[in-house]
Amino acid sequence: TGVTPDASLLLHWYDRHRRTLPWRAAPGQQADPYHVWLSEIMLQQTVVQTVIPYYERFLERFPTVDALAEAPQEDVLQLWAGLGYYARARNLHACARAIHRLGGFPRTIEGLQALPGIGTYTSRAIAAIAFNIPAVPVDGNVERITARLNAVEDPLPASRPLLARLASHLNDDPAAQARPSDFAQALFDLGASLCSPRSPSCLTCPWRDCCLAKARNMAETLPARQKK
Ligand code: ADE
Repeated sequence: TGVTPDASLLLHWYDRHRRTLPWRAAPGQQADPYHVWLSEIMLQQTVVQTVIPYYERFLERFPTVDALAEAPQEDVLQLWAGLGYYARARNLHACARAIHRLGGFPRTIEGLQALPGIGTYTSRAIAAIAFNIPAVPVDGNVERITARLNAVEDPLPASRPLLARLASHLNDDPAAQARPSDFAQALFDLGASLCSPRSPSCLTCPWRDCCLAKARNMAETLPARQKK
C-alpha cells in the first residue's frame, strides 16, 4: 500500500493556503456538481488560468446543467472556441442532456462513469469534491505526489498502474475520510504549488517528514519519464 501520509497535516496546510477558484465552494460549503463537472472537463487539457474566463462565460450563459442541455449545440461549441479539443465540447453537451434526462447528477462513482466524457478520473473528482465520497482522483499532480512520497523510480507511462494503486491509499487515514472533498482539492493544490514538477518546495511541505523522495534528495527527479 506504500506510504500512507498523515492527512491532518495536509488538511491543516490546505486550510491556511487553499486557492480561491471560481468553481470552489467557500470553506465549509458543499460544491455544486455542475460547477465541479464543468471545471474538471475544462481542466483536462487546459491550465487553470486559461480555464477561468471560459468557465465564467459558460456559467453566465448556461447557469444550470438543464440550461446547457437545452441549448443548441452550435451555441455550446461557439462558447468553447479557443479551448480546443472539440470532442470535449460535444461530449459535454451530450453529458448535460443525459443528466437532464436523469433529473440530476448521479451520486455514485459508477453512475457518473456511465455518462459521456466521464472516465475514472472525472468520476472520482466529482464524487469526492461535490458529494464528499472518499475517492482519490489521480491526475498528473497526484501521480507526481505519489511517485515522490513512495520514491517510485520506474518511469511513466509504464509506472501509471502502480502509481494509481499507491495513490488509492493516500486517503486511508481517517482524517482524510472525514473530509473527502477538501482532501482531494488539497492534493491538487499541493501539486500545483509546493510539489511542483521543477524545484519543489520540500522544506515547507506538510508531508516533508514522510516523503521518501525528500529523504533521498531526489524529489526533483521524480516521476521519471521513459525516453522516447
Ligand atoms: N486541477 C484539476 N482539478 C482541479 C481543481 N478542482 N482545482 C484545482 N486544480 C485542478
